[in-house]
Amino acid sequence: VTVFVPRDAAALAVGADRVAASIEREAKARNLDVHIVRNGSRGLLWLEVLVEVRTEHGRIAYGPVKPSDVAGLFDAGFLSGADHPLCHGLTKEIPYLKNQTRLTFSRCGITDPLSLDDYRRYQGLTGLTKAIAMTSSDIVKQVTDSGLRGRGGAGFPTGIKWKTVADAKADQKYIVCNADEGDSGTFADRMIMEGDPFVLIEGMAIAAIAVGATKGYIYTRSEYPHAIAVMQEAIEIARREGILGASVLGSAYAFDMEVRAGAGAYVCGEETSLLNSLEGKRGVVRAKPPLPALEGLFGKPTVVNNVMSLASIPVIMDRGAHFYRDFGVGRSHGTIPIQLAGNLKHGGLYETAFGLTLGELVNDIGGGTISGRPVKAVQVGGPLGAYFPQSLFDTVFDYEAFTAAGGLIGHAGIVVFDDSVDMLNQARFAMEFCAVESCGKCTPCRIGSTRGVETVDRIAKGIEPEKNKALLEDLCNTMKFGSLCALGGFTPYPVMSAMTHFPEDFAPTPVVEA
Ligand code: NAI
Ligand code: SF4
Repeated sequence: VTVFVPRDAAALAVGADRVAASIEREAKARNLDVHIVRNGSRGLLWLEVLVEVRTEHGRIAYGPVKPSDVAGLFDAGFLSGADHPLCHGLTKEIPYLKNQTRLTFSRCGITDPLSLDDYRRYQGLTGLTKAIAMTSSDIVKQVTDSGLRGRGGAGFPTGIKWKTVADAKADQKYIVCNADEGDSGTFADRMIMEGDPFVLIEGMAIAAIAVGATKGYIYTRSEYPHAIAVMQEAIEIARREGILGASVLGSAYAFDMEVRAGAGAYVCGEETSLLNSLEGKRGVVRAKPPLPALEGLFGKPTVVNNVMSLASIPVIMDRGAHFYRDFGVGRSHGTIPIQLAGNLKHGGLYETAFGLTLGELVNDIGGGTISGRPVKAVQVGGPLGAYFPQSLFDTVFDYEAFTAAGGLIGHAGIVVFDDSVDMLNQARFAMEFCAVESCGKCTPCRIGSTRGVETVDRIAKGIEPEKNKALLEDLCNTMKFGSLCALGGFTPYPVMSAMTHFPEDFAPTPVVEA
């Protein structure tokens, strides 16, 4: 009998290794033949450790399983898919999974991440095979036509970025994968690296063929040790199997890659700072222009794409531009892996076409707060994203709608807060975060963030609140328009949205003299 126990960090954090060991022990004691596959996560994080059993009807899910549940599961006959209080029936029929459109995450949680046979069995390498047979300009055109936009947050059209690099003349070009996933509440990059590493390798190889690059780097954070280990092992397998190296899948193209781990500075997720760090320098932001597409790593033309952008490439090459483009709304094409986090009943990864409303994501899919208290604010797009009140829950999840509502979808992380949150504290946190993480290159961010913390503190203490609120707004405008990169430039979003949508939390508390 095949039993699946995830190896994803989210599952490991709640005891997946111990659950796997218990299953093995129990099977041995009962003289039962059990084969354990350590798969990626399905992304239903409240059900981790989610154990699945392969039966003739399909895979049956049990979760959340603790080591102490294992003997009871055996007693109930879970190896044949028998019912049990932790049983959820067929995994693919669980509504949270069934209602998703999984294109980028189509294999994640299903396959053994390090089995190339599994990868091939589920359409792996068909995109790369097709790309090899095409001209590089046709590959770039297909990516452009798909409407794919940068999933790191900025939403810049991926095909246009690739064209800039493809058209640049140089003796060396690079593909750099930005896996420095730093946004609060986000884990999609980590999940795909741990659960389906070959899709990222395939996406990077296709990018390399399209622009004429021969070397790639995945820049990730040292806080992701499991992702690093899985990626490194997958790269070695890919080299051994002729997917990477002097001849990609037997073609005339050469491409190889490696993983580099940063020390965890948030600003190293900014592409130019990332490139500096990759070159062994301090992670300080570079002025643009020149664009990395023209003068990137070691001064050479470089594609810098987020993990999600690159991992979406294989399905686009395999199924065609129109297949992908037909998902979504307006100018936001395709699917987006949304990460539901914070005070939510059903936190996890939810890949869907653009177009659901924020309210649907929080209430219907996320199931509302786990505390049972009303939702007060939802931060979308990481620590630099705006806070949305319930009155904006009809905002449609697409790039333009979020910009119009004064926010950004960023890397599609959603963090939910109930009514116990103090929004003035959240505004202070945003300024403090910026002060701590600032690279120090420009004044509005380096000094402004520290002055911002002081100003919020004065409002909290009721010292000239109206004057200080006006000062805070003025400071936010200076940071927004005067900062060199998104860290200083976007910190005003959480601050201003907190002040605009939750003015009651910024109401003066008069100083009481003793
Ligand atoms: P940006 O708008 O300056 O650039 C977007 C991308 O397009 C860059 O790669 C840039 O080099 C490229 N580009 C622009 N014009 C181009 C052209 N003509 N040809 C080729 N390439 C071109 O935005 P930036 O500063 O790179 O990113 C800001 C975003 O990052 C924010 O929206 C934020 O949501 C997101 N972010 C994501 C985080 C994460 O953990 N994923 C963390 C922090 C911020
Ligand atoms: Fe550095 Fe902040 Fe300026 Fe960005 S905005 S370059 S992080 S000082």
